[in-house]
This record gives sequence, structure tokens and C-alpha cells, in this order.
Amino acid sequence: MDGIVNIKVTDREGVTHEIEAPTDMNMNLMEICKSYELPVEGTCGGMALCASCHMYILSEHNLSKPSDDEEDMLDQAFFVEDNSRLGCQIPITEDLEGLEVKLADVE
Ligand code: FES
Repeated sequence: MDGIVNIKVTDREGVTHEIEAPTDMNMNLMEICKSYELPVEGTCGGMALCASCHMYILSEHNLSKPSDDEEDMLDQAFFVEDNSRLGCQIPITEDLEGLEVKLADVE
């Protein structure tokens, strides 16, 4: 469907949720997870300041590089891996079709 991408989000219990994300509402991955009531707190409101939206990118998507602010925050987060990203710094675009992510443990 136009304007919608399909994304798989695996929660911390290992349950995978298939969600549909609109590309035309100026949302990011953290916000879309929250709108599906997945356990992503987004405490800082998407400012790359809390790492509560830390997730791992499981699929081979070419995402935009993390900003310096995102890198700095990930440096302070727990359980960081090479595929770690902050969901709030990833805008929902058509390029995300088929994206698979896993929520990181927060502590
Ligand atoms: Fe705080 Fe993403 S919501 S860093």
C-alpha cells in the first residue's frame, strides 16, 4: 500500500510484532513503536538524550549514518552492539520496507 511500510519489531520477550508504519506522518521508529504500545519509553521525546529507544537493526537495510549526538548517546547506553541504533533517530521512509529490528534491554 502507498505510504505504508511493513516493519517487524521483536520485543524483549522475543515476540515479533508486524507493524505498519506511515511514511507521510513525519514519525520515527521510536514513535511508531510507542503508537503500537510496544515497550519503548522514548523518555527524552526523541532528542537522542535517553537511549530508551535503543534497538538493534537485524535486516540488511542501508540506513542513514548515526549523527554525532546519536553516537554519543549510544556510547553511554547498555548492551551496545555494532547494529545498535536509537529508534528516534530513524525517520520512517519508504526505504524501511521490510525492516527488522529488536528492542534492546534498557538495563
Ligand atoms: Fe530518547 Fe530516542 S527517545 S534517545
